[in-house]
Amino acid sequence: MTELPAPRFPRLLVTGGAGFIGSCFVRDRLARRDGTQIAVLDKLTYAGNLANLAAGEADPEQAARLRFVRGDIADAAIVAPLVAGADAVVNFAAESHVDRSILDPEAFLRTDVLGVHVLLEACRAEQERAARGERAAAPRFLQVSTDEVYGSVESGESHEEDRLEPRSPYSAAKAAGELLVHSCFVTYGLDAVVTRGSNTYGPYHHPEKLIPLFITNAIDDQQLPLYGDGLQRRDWLYVGDHAGAIGHVLEHGLAGEVYNIPGGNERANREVVVRLLELLGKPWSLVRRVEDRPGHDRRYAMDGARLAALGWQNEMPFEAGLAATVEWYLHNQAWWRAIKAGEWEDYYRRQYATRLAGSRDAG
Ligand code: NAD
Ligand code: TYD
Repeated sequence: MTELPAPRFPRLLVTGGAGFIGSCFVRDRLARRDGTQIAVLDKLTYAGNLANLAAGEADPEQAARLRFVRGDIADAAIVAPLVAGADAVVNFAAESHVDRSILDPEAFLRTDVLGVHVLLEACRAEQERAARGERAAAPRFLQVSTDEVYGSVESGESHEEDRLEPRSPYSAAKAAGELLVHSCFVTYGLDAVVTRGSNTYGPYHHPEKLIPLFITNAIDDQQLPLYGDGLQRRDWLYVGDHAGAIGHVLEHGLAGEVYNIPGGNERANREVVVRLLELLGKPWSLVRRVEDRPGHDRRYAMDGARLAALGWQNEMPFEAGLAATVEWYLHNQAWWRAIKAGEWEDYYRRQYATRLAGSRDAG
């Protein structure tokens, strides 16, 4: 058997590792079998799900390298010892849904801003320990951010140096979080990098988001609430590619830099829904035009030259990724039906009852 190269960061702390993208990152890293030890810190909010890590838990070799801690990234007492035992921290933890940020912005400030600050302070303490010779090196910090910090991009593509113009409570909180990271690089010389990923899709995606909501509703012949004219444009990135790109930046990114992670698959929402219905063999008549999201960003698009120059390329074509995603939801109904049985009903009523009551044919 060939020897695997030693990982650059043998001990990882992955915060928010029970969510959609974080759990993909953890599953993929464990499956490399390169000896990396992973501690996951996750609050298990409505979006966190231990079932997302079951594949790792079921494999004894991987399970021996995975440790799960339930806790809040804004809780310094929990965070400090975990950061002390890590060579790198990858922060996926966030409140992540724009519609929920419109209903209840405060949770977003606590996790996406204060939580990032607490993680950075713990990294700073470890940097001081490294300076005193109490550990080999300060931990590297990677903040998982989003293209939404650029705001709505009517034409062209966002570059990393562009102004941040977030327009929702979610994207404003994410922008604040990554600006704190930048400030710690500038002020304290913290070894920190930021990624800005585009709209991500794939298995284990919480059914509150467009693609999994429409797949799971369509499977049950339920209405599909399309906001406004449905001509908003998003750039879709497969979850395995997003997680892979984050790992690549963790290992090769320059400290202090921001890296866009585009998907290279810009589509209008309507186009995505047409394709989903074709894959599922369901009729367009399920789609309802509903009241638009307030402040709805019309389009996101990013330039990916910096990440490409770092040597990263996405692998999953959109057509194949969408088909694989539909298959996954068809074959893993227990996973999403359990989610749709919890606090879901309340949320769904708050978000959609009035909208669907006043909906019309989507044309
Ligand atoms: P998600 O909502 O599926 O997962 C978030 C995870 O964080 C959950 O497991 C949740 O329990 C955990 N969490 C929330 N608050 C916490 C806290 N205070 N302490 C500890 N854990 C907490 O989100 P996702 O879609 O996997 O997104 C992960 C990251 O990627 C987020 O930072 C998000 O802003 C960013 N991002 C997401 C997308 C996307 O399209 N999904 C695109 C670009 C960037
Ligand atoms: P979403 O998956 O919430 O991601 P984001 O808002 O972060 O881009 O939404 C993707 C697009 O789909 C966005 O333009 C809003 C739209 N959308 C609907 O039309 N109906 C829905 O029920 C949802 C959740 C989203």
